[in-house]
Amino acid sequence: MRKVILAHRYHEEAVAALNREFDLVIADGKNGGLRACLNRHPDAEGLISFLSDPVDAAAISAMKKLKIIANFAVGYNNIDIGRALELNVLVTHTPDVLTRATADLAMALILAASRRLVEGDALVRAGEFQGWQAGLLLGRELSGAILGIVGMGRIGLATALRARAFGMKVIYYSRSAKPRIEKKYGFARVTFLELIRSADVVSLHLPYSPSVHHLFSHDVFALMKKDAIFINTARGQLMDEEALAGALERNELFGAGLDVYENEPAVNARLKKLKNTVLLPHLGSATESTRRQMAMMTVQAVRQALSGRKPRHLVPEWKERLKK
Ligand code: GLV
Repeated sequence: MRKVILAHRYHEEAVAALNREFDLVIADGKNGGLRACLNRHPDAEGLISFLSDPVDAAAISAMKKLKIIANFAVGYNNIDIGRALELNVLVTHTPDVLTRATADLAMALILAASRRLVEGDALVRAGEFQGWQAGLLLGRELSGAILGIVGMGRIGLATALRARAFGMKVIYYSRSAKPRIEKKYGFARVTFLELIRSADVVSLHLPYSPSVHHLFSHDVFALMKKDAIFINTARGQLMDEEALAGALERNELFGAGLDVYENEPAVNARLKKLKNTVLLPHLGSATESTRRQMAMMTVQAVRQALSGRKPRHLVPEWKERLKK
């Protein structure tokens, strides 16, 4: 049977299918983790990776029989895609199935940050609720506020549509124009500068690549409205966490809602001290049904690749290559 490495145990149904069809090695604690497992099984033909595990050029090069890396995530910046292309290793990801769950979470963060849900919860638990007060924990109104979507892909659009239902006006920044979205929903494409200057809520939905490292820098936070809210459910490396913490400490922003961090699982200590910040542990796609679908997609991708078929959810770089 052909050998497949699974970076961590995940949905039981997917593990059972992999066990039936392949010689499955799960890189859990007793195998010494993924790195040790890759060293011990250089003959594996498939790898199912998690976004928390870097799959670098050295690891890809060492696995001489590797045909596919199926990433259990839509983002795949943990994989050295250049080396995978060079060595003809297919790479797939899990788009679409997690769009709604992630957009729900972005909307939850927008609501939580604007209406100070976590502060309110903490106050009640601390026994400090003394009855209704006219000035208690006043937040920001969403209706009529401008939402700036940075990256109008699938998740950006799904978030915009949710926000629209709350009466928000949507503007977006995207490298490519989206005439169909503009026509259908009336969302206006603006420059990056215009967006950060005029949005009341800025929500990030870009894939990470080194070219957008720290896109949200000290200078960018300084240009945002003084009472704006910053939301990141995309990737931590898109923002300079120290700069964000500084802006929040000086009350140059109203608040932030974060699901991702620069150096996960580490979370900036200054951010953790702030009251006007909602911090989640990378839960974007964390619903039972979404995670099941993501897991089954990775099984299908490995199955397709190892039987010589083209996997359905190749990453864009691979799709481009096959077009040529
Ligand atoms: C989650 O962050 C993902 O990329 O799927």
